Amino acid sequence: MHGKTILLIVGGGIAAYKALDLLRELRRAGARVLPVLTEGGSRFVTPLSLSALAEAPVRTSLWTLEDEATMGHIALSRAADLILVCPATADLMARAAAGLADDLATTLLLATDTPVMMAPAMNVRMWEHAATRANAATLVARGVTIVPPEVGAMACGETGPGRLPELPALMAAVAAHFGEKKLAGRHAIVTAGPTHEAIDPVRYIANRSSGKQGFAVAGALAALGARVSLIAGPVTLATPAGVERIDVESARDMAAAVEAALPADIAVMVAAVADWRVEAAATKIKKGSGMPVLRLEENPDILAGLAQHPLRPGRLIGFAAETGDLLAKAAAKRVAKGCDWLVANDVSDGVFGSEDNHVHLLTGAGSEDWGKASKAAIARRLAMRIADDI
Ligand code: CTP
Repeated sequence: MHGKTILLIVGGGIAAYKALDLLRELRRAGARVLPVLTEGGSRFVTPLSLSALAEAPVRTSLWTLEDEATMGHIALSRAADLILVCPATADLMARAAAGLADDLATTLLLATDTPVMMAPAMNVRMWEHAATRANAATLVARGVTIVPPEVGAMACGETGPGRLPELPALMAAVAAHFGEKKLAGRHAIVTAGPTHEAIDPVRYIANRSSGKQGFAVAGALAALGARVSLIAGPVTLATPAGVERIDVESARDMAAAVEAALPADIAVMVAAVADWRVEAAATKIKKGSGMPVLRLEENPDILAGLAQHPLRPGRLIGFAAETGDLLAKAAAKRVAKGCDWLVANDVSDGVFGSEDNHVHLLTGAGSEDWGKASKAAIARRLAMRIADDI
């Protein structure tokens, strides 16, 4: 976002204080920020804080002669490469959706032909109210990008979707908007989904992995310009844009496909690989022939194998599915597997198949709780983190 101008409209919600961090981060990333503070926003943060961080004057009113003389609101609305509303309150979204122009923020939104991104933050009931849903849908239909709020405990004491996404997720959304291809020229291998281990030609052993998290990671890496080889176990998900997909069945197929996809700069092993395979029968096991006994053999550990491989990718990232004692088990697993980072999630609380996840990133320097968020948001954050580190 170097050299880009961002008009940052700060709405009136408790999350407004987070706009200060966002402003600083945008500037660090090279953007020029023109801050606009709504009447409500000024109840939470001061114009002085915004203008000091932006090193630019803050606009708060439509009716200030001096401001209008310097840059009229029409010119201001078009002076930016992006208008970012953060936090976007239910009220601000409603007024924008209705096309009102009763303050500077809504007037700018109505007058502009610049792309608009909104990061809503509000109480969960307000976010889920049919009116807000309809307003969000109207705005999206008009081309506004909505950065979905995250699930979590809110200032009002309730829990649910409505919380402003964490700073890295907001930055990732802005970076994605500007189409930053930080991973251009890099090759990434991503494994995703379950594996199926045949018992006989009809039956197999599987696990509950849906593949959603791995597919989201593949898509997020591709969105940052990486060439992505997605080695997918048996799932019926759509292939993310710009990703080359290699479908496999068993753990051994997956290991062979990973080997064939090398070399790579990045490997993210999200798949829930079956630890054991069955000595499969060549023909269907019939009911009448007594109780079958399944003899299990250990499958290759693809991640641990890659860590020892002469072509070890420079960034090797594992995922850990645990049920209890998450951080201790994940920290031990990161070391045992020899990967650089490990994304740990507790799968005892309905993560499989869900749209959301709650992960911790273990880097070796410590662990970071990323809170509950959509799998897509976690994927974008991870991809940005890899891009920043590589
Ligand atoms: N993994 C792998 N090959 C395997 C098993 C796991 O590449 N045969 C990878 C997974 O893709 C994941 C990481 O190793 O990135 C951890 O997987 P997980 O299922 O959490 O751990 P396991 O190694 O299977 O250990 P355990 O089942 O004892 O927890």
